[in-house]
Amino acid sequence: MHHLALNVQHVGKSFASEEPWLKRLRRRNGKVCAVSDVSFQVKRGEIYGILGPNGSGKSTLIRCLATLLIPDAGRIEIFGHDLQRDEKTVKRLINRVSVDAAFFKKLSAMENLLYAARLYGMDGATARKRIREILERLGIKELHQPLEHMSRGMQQKVAIARAFLNSPILLLLDEPTTGLDPRSKREVQEFVLEVREDHDATVLLTTHDMDEADKLCNRVAIIDNGKIIAEDTSQGLKNLIQDRVPNPTLEDVFMELTGKQLVTEEDLVSET
Ligand SMILES: Nc1ncnc2c1ncn2[C@@H]1O[C@H](COP(=O)(O)OP(=O)(O)O)[C@@H](O)[C@H]1O
Ligand SMILES: [Mg+2]
Repeated sequence: MHHLALNVQHVGKSFASEEPWLKRLRRRNGKVCAVSDVSFQVKRGEIYGILGPNGSGKSTLIRCLATLLIPDAGRIEIFGHDLQRDEKTVKRLINRVSVDAAFFKKLSAMENLLYAARLYGMDGATARKRIREILERLGIKELHQPLEHMSRGMQQKVAIARAFLNSPILLLLDEPTTGLDPRSKREVQEFVLEVREDHDATVLLTTHDMDEADKLCNRVAIIDNGKIIAEDTSQGLKNLIQDRVPNPTLEDVFMELTGKQLVTEEDLVSET
């Protein structure tokens, strides 16, 4: 298996938009440039974080990696396979989990995962066995109660469990803990760490939570306006500004590099 889980080179993605409210945003020829000349590499077994404010291009980037969007520019390789040339192979190697995970809330974890397994073309008996295995290994005991009776953190775990149905080795987690209460947030974070250990998975996650990036990620890329403006270990990023800011946090790093706040009052309000 290739030692580079992910190789992203000069990827760009713009959206056509004539929305008047978008005029305030960066735009060229009526286009919103969501991701611009982004390059980075993720090693096998790493947890790599993309840290950036709302609207910085994180979801667009994840959608490009998940083959849901076609980039306008650049090249993406997953375990050495070109995303566009070997789309079929790549699709077996990756799985994306997003906050807005589509579940049937009245159905149980088992029923939801069986439904997903059918979409993957697995037969019922095989699926049932595999789902038991996955949920057990992930410590999810409530197999048969409706999802709506489970905590949001637990539901998010089920979403991640679903991502293991097709044995992905690169997990794409788009803001896995956004909107969760502190306890659920901690549960999901611990879970991500476990999943990496137990399943030999590589994880790419996006977040606007600097503590999360600090706690979970081996390396962090800071993204702003669709561009990666710095990339290093959390400590390496802090070292960048150590001489100007004593005991810096990643938030300080972001502010020093961009002159902006990472999390705005508005974000805080919309999260509660
Ligand atoms: N389908 C789309 N059509 C037009 N503009 C889009 C679309 N998706 C995202 N954008 C714009 O691209 C930028 C980046 O958005 P997004 O990738 O969702 O950022 P993030 O996930 O970091 O909040 C934003 O300005 C957003 O409005
Ligand atoms: Mg997003």
